[in-house]
Amino acid sequence: MTDQGTSLHGRVALITGASRGVGRGIALAMADKGAAIAVAGRNLQSCRNTVAELNRRGAEAIAIQCDVASGEDITRAVEATTSRFGRLDVLVHSAQSFNYGPIRRLTPQEFDESWRTGPLAAVQLMQAAFPALRETQGLIVNVASGAGITAPPAMAAYAMAKEAMRTLTRVAAVEWGRYRIRALALCPFAQTDGMDDFEQSMGVSRDKDLVPAIPLGRLGDPETDIGRVVAFLASDDARYLTGSTLMVDGGYTYLR
Ligand SMILES: NC(=O)c1ccc[n+]([C@@H]2O[C@H](COP(=O)([O-])OP(=O)(O)OC[C@H]3O[C@@H](n4cnc5c(N)ncnc54)[C@H](O)[C@@H]3O)[C@@H](O)[C@H]2O)c1
Repeated sequence: MTDQGTSLHGRVALITGASRGVGRGIALAMADKGAAIAVAGRNLQSCRNTVAELNRRGAEAIAIQCDVASGEDITRAVEATTSRFGRLDVLVHSAQSFNYGPIRRLTPQEFDESWRTGPLAAVQLMQAAFPALRETQGLIVNVASGAGITAPPAMAAYAMAKEAMRTLTRVAAVEWGRYRIRALALCPFAQTDGMDDFEQSMGVSRDKDLVPAIPLGRLGDPETDIGRVVAFLASDDARYLTGSTLMVDGGYTYLR
């Protein structure tokens, strides 16, 4: 028995928001399967910290300063990845600005920020990466959210942005299937700094409100619960999977 079908040796992934949280977990899990990683995020030093951990585990990696609200940064991030590694197999968009508040107080600026860092950034990343992904018959993973599906109060800007990313993913799967490019959306539920911020902003108690509502009884781990799923999705064993949304949430979204 070999793990050839799940190996990512020789493959290259560009991951936004990979300095921490879900993006970092995906980077670590993909690297453990042999992928080289371009770690993109707003804070270069935080990206370098992830790269240091990847290098410590024996993986090749580079850090790229990239604010996903900037189309220029996005173009530079894709160019930096292909010029360093000579190819791009997997594009993961995990970075996202969070805005919480009721619809009556939602400002155009908050709407704009959610939109720019979510679906608009996803479109611009996919456009910039398209030539390289066509070469490798690669994969796009857009990190969406169960919030877009369950419509929780006070999360309109964020939830709309995340649902738009799922729609974009399905359209890309259809448009780019002819190039053998796959596109998938993933809704995680995981213990991250972003989750800490969510709990504080919304006055939600992890122990009283969140964990009891998760059928599997715990928040996911960004690397071992979420990242390993993405590593599988990027492998040959998942080669017939496209257009789907993977709910990697311990059952939280649909089974509450
Ligand atoms: N943690 C969860 O349970 C959960 C649930 C549903 C969806 N998600 C999604 O997973 C993704 C990661 O969330 P997380 O929990 O790891 O959050 P996090 O805040 O811990 O990490 C998000 C990362 O994105 C980066 N980022 C934010 N805006 C950026 C920008 N403009 N340019 C570049 N980088 C930027 C942040 O600096 C951070 O490194 C997000 O898309 C989020 O919507 C997470």
